[in-house]
Amino acid sequence: MSDGQKGKIGRREFLGGAATAGLILMKPELVRGTAANSAVRVGLLGCGGRGTEDASNLIDTGGARVTALADLFQDQLDKAKTHFDKIAQSKGLAGVDPSQMFVGPNAYEQIVSSKEVDAVVITSPPYFHPQHLEAAVKAGKHVYCEKPVAVDVHGALKVIEIGRRAQGKLSLDVGFQIRNAPPFVELVRRIHAGALGKINSGEVYYYAGALDRPSWEGASPTEKRLRNWVWDRVLSGDIIVEQNIHVIDVCNWMLQGHPVKATGAGGRGTRSDWGDAFGHFNVVYTYPEDVHVTLNSTQFNKGWWDVNERLFGSKGTSESHYSGPCAIYGDEPWSWAKADTSSSNDTKKFSAAGAFSDNLAQADPEKKKAFIESITSNQFHNQAALGAESALSGMLGRTAAYRGEEVSWEGLLASDEHWDSGIDLNNL
Ligand SMILES: NC(=O)c1ccc[n+]([C@@H]2O[C@H](COP(=O)([O-])OP(=O)(O)OC[C@H]3O[C@@H](n4cnc5c(N)ncnc54)[C@H](O)[C@@H]3O)[C@@H](O)[C@H]2O)c1
Repeated sequence: MSDGQKGKIGRREFLGGAATAGLILMKPELVRGTAANSAVRVGLLGCGGRGTEDASNLIDTGGARVTALADLFQDQLDKAKTHFDKIAQSKGLAGVDPSQMFVGPNAYEQIVSSKEVDAVVITSPPYFHPQHLEAAVKAGKHVYCEKPVAVDVHGALKVIEIGRRAQGKLSLDVGFQIRNAPPFVELVRRIHAGALGKINSGEVYYYAGALDRPSWEGASPTEKRLRNWVWDRVLSGDIIVEQNIHVIDVCNWMLQGHPVKATGAGGRGTRSDWGDAFGHFNVVYTYPEDVHVTLNSTQFNKGWWDVNERLFGSKGTSESHYSGPCAIYGDEPWSWAKADTSSSNDTKKFSAAGAFSDNLAQADPEKKKAFIESITSNQFHNQAALGAESALSGMLGRTAAYRGEEVSWEGLLASDEHWDSGIDLNNL
């Protein structure tokens, strides 16, 4: 977008934090002029299911515009262009300019350098997140980075360091939208206020079906890995770091910390895809003060799914399903009034792109609204360390399960585990 405020204040300065005290007192929309040129301009890096959902949410609830697209593959890029051009057209706006379409291994560098972009949504496969995040922050762009921020310890530590560089200068959000879901916000507020008393133990679980992906017949083995990265251990981080991380993140939030050690088991079981990711994990986490939490997960079951955190304390028990009760039982009972208790077994309600009903209905809208507001108000977020903490918590359980032995938080960090996909993107 061209700067409609020429001679007054540069758009980058306004969005990037260099506004004067006087401007901060004014409403952002008054400073930035008309709706068409005041919207935060979003570049989408990784144009798949979740990226399309995230960027559409930013338009719907944040009033953003999608001005640039980048992907490794042309077909993905084209699909996204059709989608976002249609939205722009419905608002009487121009679609994505062909000069802002970036494809191939260097597409990430091109999109973060674009002068038409204020904020980048990173929804490439997790393996690339630290690299893509680093490039975006270096280019001075605000970032909405999907979870997990990294697949290995090396990447997670790098993300913490990138977060330090962004501090106070850019807004950096990580895609844990459940932390913005009103039922969860209220439940956690009550837990933190002592509604469960002394928390002793808990169980969190993520029981999901197989992820349905096209088989990409005729593609090379490397392309197949990239296309179906969710089945690939190194590209995804495995299901505990890629998918189960949501319940681990909520558990860390509820318990206000991270596990200090873990033991675990897991395996591929009856998974039928050609990848090497596990089909289930069964982990016991120990949090500070000897709070023991089991994590169980599947990514193969048929006909039924459920995702939930349950904590047991001296005064009560809590549970918080994606779909179903969000409640506290015991001395201080409470239940989210709008919770749908009818059924949590409707597989149709489960969405791999993250569009859920019931307790999570407002999670994405609230999350995206908060991200855009953090940019337009110069009250920048910085969720890098938090995102890394949850990713590392997943890695702790993963390492314990892979090794079949107890692993401590310190031991995990000292390992500086560094995964290599062995993929040369310039040679696909
Ligand atoms: N927060 C949530 O609820 C939620 C839900 C679903 C997915 N996610 C996360 O979103 C991310 C994307 O998941 P998805 O389901 O959209 O996957 P996807 O496979 O649908 O999309 C990934 C896209 O990235 C592209 N890509 C692959 N390698 C690339 C590279 N090196 N550079 C640029 N583009 C590249 C692919 O071609 C594809 O278009 C993952 O981190 C996933 O964990 C989060």
